[in-house]
Amino acid sequence: MHPSIHPEEGKNGPVARLINVTKQYQRGDEVVVAVRELSFSINPGEILAVVGPSGCGKSTALGLLAGVDRPDRGEVWVGNTNLTRVDERDVVQLRRRKVGVIFQAFHLIEHLTVRENVSLPLALDGRRDPQRVGDLLARVGLSHRANHFPSELSGGEQQRTAVARALVHRPTLVVADEIS
Ligand SMILES: Nc1ncnc2c1ncn2[C@@H]1O[C@H](COP(=O)(O)OP(=O)(O)O)[C@@H](O)[C@H]1O
Ligand SMILES: [Mg+2]
Repeated sequence: MHPSIHPEEGKNGPVARLINVTKQYQRGDEVVVAVRELSFSINPGEILAVVGPSGCGKSTALGLLAGVDRPDRGEVWVGNTNLTRVDERDVVQLRRRKVGVIFQAFHLIEHLTVRENVSLPLALDGRRDPQRVGDLLARVGLSHRANHFPSELSGGEQQRTAVARALVHRPTLVVADEIS
């Protein structure tokens, strides 16, 4: 328990916080500790870079932060929600509303166009905002590719699509894995 963390911290508190988080993977007899007792917090407007060699646990840590994975020990907070204490359904809801994720492998939906991929976070929340989607496509320089499919894009264009998709719903936290 960390007495310094209070759910009441509200809007001025950290956007996200990891507290003594450990994540391990079991492969047969072998246990791989991907993240060991990691703690950090991110304040509004702050950019935090997680740096380290391949295999040191960066993607695992970011997945925990984004709520796509759960830790074995420790706590993960996004705003004033303790992700390790709420139902999976609430984690999904919070991720939809407050978090934008750019995965290392982009994870675009192959049968949706660029425009549809970027619209997805809004659509999943029952919203439409063609103006916002158009603005973001312009900002990442992909207006001319809006009706193309991911397989027709270069790697950089796919990543820019993923960037636009991660920002479209104005998340309070953006988690970006190996973005260049
Ligand atoms: N699903 C998994 N099953 C078993 N081991 C995993 C799994 N995901 C990651 N690992 C292991 O955890 C460690 C950290 O991986 P990862 O977080 O992807 O590192 P990074 O992003 O820093 O390159 C690596 O040794 C990797 O092999
Ligand atoms: Mg990685």
